[in-house]
Amino acid sequence: MFRSQLYVPSNNEKMIRKTETINADMFIFDLEDAVPDNEKNKARELLNSLLPQLNLKATVCIRINPLYSKEFAHDILFVNKNDKIECLVVPKAEIDLSFLYKLTSKELLPLIETAKGLLRIEDVVRSEGVLGISWGAADLADSLRADVKAVEGSEYIRLKIITTARVYGITPTDKVYFDVKNLEGFRKECEMAKSFGFDGKQVIHPEQVKIANEIFSPSKEEIEWAKRVIEEYEKAKVSGKGAITVDGKLVDAVHYRIAKRLLESELS
Ligand code: COA
Ligand code: MG
Repeated sequence: MFRSQLYVPSNNEKMIRKTETINADMFIFDLEDAVPDNEKNKARELLNSLLPQLNLKATVCIRINPLYSKEFAHDILFVNKNDKIECLVVPKAEIDLSFLYKLTSKELLPLIETAKGLLRIEDVVRSEGVLGISWGAADLADSLRADVKAVEGSEYIRLKIITTARVYGITPTDKVYFDVKNLEGFRKECEMAKSFGFDGKQVIHPEQVKIANEIFSPSKEEIEWAKRVIEEYEKAKVSGKGAITVDGKLVDAVHYRIAKRLLESELS
């Protein structure tokens, strides 16, 4: 499971090297918006030389440039030369991406960040090789001509992403939180995203990684609750009962299933 997916600007040697000391579940070496046009070649060259040297346990991804950009073809040639790259983050995804999987054999993590992408999210997610989905608030706000703050807080978008991800059995990850210094605000947004059903958060700073890993792991209280529910429910079942109370709250088959899933996710 990807609790934390850290973006790293690929033209920044120091930050690329720093990943060896950061406990993220996924690194996304960015070739898109964190890298200015005149640095894109340098960024690819830097990754070419540094990726083989790095000892990373986490999943290694590259955020490529948009499909219709001039840089896209260069990105694909670069990606196809690198065995260390496991997955491509696809910005501004709007169409069936199966061709990209066929072209590269890399798994795909599309970003929904345009009006068209949001409307056609199922075309995107149904593509071959998609392992997860995330979304971007600033580009989406730009595309919708909306206010970034309004888009960031949208329940509609989150439900749409989560629902689609669960239908197609891929992992949903919530968007980046831009206010890097505001760790309390970040923590709150992680909690909100978790309550919506997201499996993790895209992040931009090492401090955010720690918080996302904590929030998107089952808490001690959740594990204790799950163990009690399983124990009490299984006891009750033997005596022919399907509905009981635990701590004064109803527990039936659905709560039992939730408790089982929670414990399984802790083990995975
Ligand atoms: N990846 C790897 N290392 C990072 C990092 C990242 N995303 N963000 C910060 N660091 C490192 C810094 O290099 C610094 O290392 P040091 O202690 O060895 O000097 C340390 O973590 C602390 O960083 P800090 O000084 O607090 O942040 P900063 O001012 O250097 O950088 C940002 C702040 C926002 C510019 C930076 O976090 C960043 O570039 N994030 C990613 C942005 C991005 O990729 N955007 C595209 C997707 S939205
Ligand atoms: Mg974007």
